[in-house]
Amino acid sequence: MNIDFEKLAQKYNTPLYVYDFDSIAQNYNALKDAFAGKKSLINYAIKANSNLSLIAHLASLGAGADCVSIGEVKRALLAGVNRYKIIFSGVGKRDEEMQEALKLDILLLNLESEAEMVRLEGVAKELGMKARISIRVNPNINPKTHPYISTGLHENKFGVDIESAKRMYIYAKRSEYLDPIGIHFHIGSQMLDIEPLKEAAIIVADLAKTLKALEIDIRFFDVGGGIGVRYDDEITIDPKEYVAAIEEATKKLDVTILCEPGRSLVANSGWFVTRVLYEKNNEGKRFVVVDGAMNDLLRPSLYGAYHKIEALKDGTKKSKADVVGPVCESGDFLGKDVLLPQLEHGDLLVVHSAGAYGFSMASNYNTRNRSAEVALQNEEEMLIRKRECFEDLIALEKEYLDALSLKEE
Ligand code: LLP
Repeated sequence: MNIDFEKLAQKYNTPLYVYDFDSIAQNYNALKDAFAGKKSLINYAIKANSNLSLIAHLASLGAGADCVSIGEVKRALLAGVNRYKIIFSGVGKRDEEMQEALKLDILLLNLESEAEMVRLEGVAKELGMKARISIRVNPNINPKTHPYISTGLHENKFGVDIESAKRMYIYAKRSEYLDPIGIHFHIGSQMLDIEPLKEAAIIVADLAKTLKALEIDIRFFDVGGGIGVRYDDEITIDPKEYVAAIEEATKKLDVTILCEPGRSLVANSGWFVTRVLYEKNNEGKRFVVVDGAMNDLLRPSLYGAYHKIEALKDGTKKSKADVVGPVCESGDFLGKDVLLPQLEHGDLLVVHSAGAYGFSMASNYNTRNRSAEVALQNEEEMLIRKRECFEDLIALEKEYLDALSLKEE
């Protein structure tokens, strides 16, 4: 698609996130179509990009939501996601979060330990409610991805092993306050190979069969998220191949398939636009200093993740440069050894594949305002989050400073 980044940068200033809502719809519909004719629900993983308008866009297409905090649950509801399409996961839910989720009457809470289950039972009892639950099973499968985003091995903190899961389901079935209706796994993110997912699905489907035999009525089979995307030249899992693998693993089970894609719906529909501040050369090492930084897009610094960076300006003579931000950390870079033409103050760089885990992982480190976010849809543009200003950043502290100075007077 042809986006006039220069025009957008002039209008909204930089650094700036830009999303193509039409491309997000295409990604969603491709997956939806692959599931055609099967009982299924796509629960968009809000953590990938939690902008309200973006969630609303996916909700309008029929998406549900996968949430990891009560804040995300509330975002999903506010954006118009149907409550019976919302699930709430996460290894460490607080009592208040459980209470609120139960009162909000969402589809289910996904549990990650026995201790958490007992806690939820207590919370539900207090409210006089029966909590619909699923249990996250850790099938001990290596998803062959970056260790920081690999979650399906016993060495990871997520989920419970098969035997514990079985015990938990038996306990839950007997409880007056728990209603075990689902089973869940998620083995990792940015997966490029379907095999680990298939293996995990087979293991978990076996457990679901055993549970059904024990008259535990598993109605939802949740395969998590994790479909990889192309950042560079990766070849990833095709939606049809994905659905076929899940179908094969669950063919003898009468269940609704849930899946929780985040990255694959939004990553390549987003760009991070930043302006060049300066060029500098430290004894032969070339740096391009830009106005975007690790606080805006953390993935390169945190995971050494690759994002393609392009200069809008064409230049014949290109050489390698590190693209770095103004944050006072050596780890503050957006790209290393990027082939770029000679650049001047004000030139624009576009960082690709920034729609997932970009803005949602941004922070105010170094008292930097978080970027604005703009969406494009049907050839129209709309601001979906305005740029923060200094007053926003100090809003929760200012009154205490004022009180302090009053005391001192
Ligand atoms: N479901 C569960 C239980 C998850 O933990 C995750 C991601 C997803 C779904 C969505 O996975 P996806 O389809 O996006 O791969 N910040 C990292 C990614 C962390 C993923 C955490 N969990 C990154 O920037 O690569």
